[in-house]
Amino acid sequence: MTLPHAGAAPVSCRGRRPHEGCREATRRAAGLQNVEFVGADSEALPFSDEAFTAVPCSASFHHYPSPRAALAEIHRVLAAGAASHSTTEPPISLVARVADRVLRLVDRGHVRLYRASELRAMLADAGFDVLAVDLLHGGGYAIVTARRL
Ligand SMILES: C[S@@+](CC[C@H](N)C(=O)[O-])C[C@H]1O[C@@H](n2cnc3c(N)ncnc32)[C@H](O)[C@@H]1O
Repeated sequence: MTLPHAGAAPVSCRGRRPHEGCREATRRAAGLQNVEFVGADSEALPFSDEAFTAVPCSASFHHYPSPRAALAEIHRVLAAGAASHSTTEPPISLVARVADRVLRLVDRGHVRLYRASELRAMLADAGFDVLAVDLLHGGGYAIVTARRL
């Protein structure tokens, strides 16, 4: 399986363009020899069309300035019929909605949280078939699985 990570930073490397040394440290700590970390903007992935059989997007979707552009890129680099798994926090509870508002003010990287219905609509518009929206932690966390049509 070829597996890019739409969300730039693996594990402990945060920041849109994590330092090369941080990527190398993460790769070594995980004991991985056959993994390459590529820092890139989710809205301009440096990969050819249909290059991958899966794209995970971990806890990053709500940080993207243009989520629809990122979805278009994920769609472009995925082979037809392949899947994307995104995790995010839908603002279902009042606490989550308040946290979303506060984070927009204090966290420069936080754009906004999306309701499950909004995620479904954006994915459908981008050419995905939404297979599942699994809500965890009382609805505070979502794993969205979609297949590229
Ligand atoms: C909450 S962290 C999640 C990090 C990691 N994916 C994880 O699951 O632990 C959000 C990440 O999204 C990245 N990010 C935000 N906007 C991005 C963009 N337009 N393109 C690529 N990465 C972006 C940030 O640099 C940050 O590393």
